[in-house]
Amino acid sequence: MDVGMPAYWSERYQQGETGWDLGGETPVFQVLLAEGLFPVPAMQEGRRSRVLVPGCGYGHDVLLFARAGYEVIAVDFAPEPLQVLQARLAHTSLPVQLLCVDLFHLPEHCVQPVDAVVEYTCYCAIAPWRRCDYFSVMSRLLSPGGWFVGLFFPVTPEPSLVGPPFPVCREEVLELGQRHGLVLRRHEVPQCSHPARRGREELMMFQKGKG
Ligand SMILES: C[S@@+](CC[C@H](N)C(=O)[O-])C[C@H]1O[C@@H](n2cnc3c(N)ncnc32)[C@H](O)[C@@H]1O
Repeated sequence: MDVGMPAYWSERYQQGETGWDLGGETPVFQVLLAEGLFPVPAMQEGRRSRVLVPGCGYGHDVLLFARAGYEVIAVDFAPEPLQVLQARLAHTSLPVQLLCVDLFHLPEHCVQPVDAVVEYTCYCAIAPWRRCDYFSVMSRLLSPGGWFVGLFFPVTPEPSLVGPPFPVCREEVLELGQRHGLVLRRHEVPQCSHPARRGREELMMFQKGKG
């Protein structure tokens, strides 16, 4: 089955084959928020900042950012995880918009630009030959000066067309960011990654040009 189709992912969710799911918020994002190192404040100019989470799955990070005061747009083209997330949101007043759409069609659905994109294990779920389009869409959705905060996993030296997860090549991400008008502002191998992923995740924060 084609990883570019929602049916592939729906089947994984229905079969409970969700080995990528950490069962909770991503530690690196928790630390960025707790230490005030996330580059976009929750509020600016009297409004909540808008954060897009592509391929959000069960939405642990959607909840993390919404609880931290951000307005969150949660995107996944598989309905199963969004139904679970919807239920988790039901008795809250958290500002979350759920979009069950293919992220490659997002510009038709997201008319307002976002202040930040938070990427985690969506990039590695996309076929490598679509990665340029992925960056193109994300860059288009960002407001001038907006941030693409990507925690890339699994980073490996050898490119491979076998997946998902499709391994992430550091140089490719850096090149694609640059090609789409995103300037690298921070790059590190976090020490606070989930123990099962430590050393194989890289945090890259890009800022879109203001012009
Ligand atoms: C590996 S899972 C990661 C889920 C979540 N980020 C996490 O860390 O638990 C990839 C997710 O991206 C979604 N996805 C893959 N390709 C997509 C696309 N083109 N548009 C929207 N969602 C997509 C899948 O349905 C799946 O929920």
